[in-house]
Amino acid sequence: MSRDYWEQRYQTNDMSWEKGAPSPGLVDFLTAHPVLKRGTVCVPGCGTGHDVRAFTAAGFEASGFDIAPSAIALAEGKTIIAGLTAKFQLADFLRDEPPQKFDWLFEHTLFCAIQPRERDAYVRAVLRWLKPGGNYLAVNYFDCGPDGPPWPTTRAEQLERFSPHFKLLADWTPRSYPNREGKERMFWWGLRTASKQSAAID
Ligand SMILES: C[S@@+](CC[C@H](N)C(=O)[O-])C[C@H]1O[C@@H](n2cnc3c(N)ncnc32)[C@H](O)[C@@H]1O
Repeated sequence: MSRDYWEQRYQTNDMSWEKGAPSPGLVDFLTAHPVLKRGTVCVPGCGTGHDVRAFTAAGFEASGFDIAPSAIALAEGKTIIAGLTAKFQLADFLRDEPPQKFDWLFEHTLFCAIQPRERDAYVRAVLRWLKPGGNYLAVNYFDCGPDGPPWPTTRAEQLERFSPHFKLLADWTPRSYPNREGKERMFWWGLRTASKQSAAID
């Protein structure tokens, strides 16, 4: 979907995804892993920034990126009100070069929001924005109906797209917002080094 489409959704307050809180699955992940090495985090399609602030509050150096200028403005305002520090930047995650490479990349309702035909570009973008050896943590929406956005995915699709590049460290059904209970799955992936990637592709 275009930048104008998403900007219009913000301008008209047509934000069905906006729950006023970070993904419950992310909150539980951060609570369950208090001693994970902290580092930089990229949250593409960050919306109003709830997940970015959750990472920041947990001690990560988090940055949010969104294609809609109004999302960035809202995210910056909410972060100041929360008394937190995080970077937000206008960017097209699928097409732009990253300002830096990140230790972590967190997916939450961007994969399902882009056109399914853009999913190859999404995988390429994750590889472009992450550091070698980086972590890709995703909350994927499995059961959201066929008429997107959002468009659903499956565990089989996630394994097919990401296994050639990543080692699957864990996947599980997370706690979710009330209307998404049982409809999401989390995946924690570790990016393989270049030599291991070619071995996986051979
Ligand atoms: C369904 S909303 C989810 C927002 C946020 N992740 C959340 O769960 O509250 C999808 C977000 O992705 C943004 N977006 C769509 N395409 C994008 C792209 N190519 N690059 C960056 N952001 C994009 C939209 O502007 C919107 O804020």
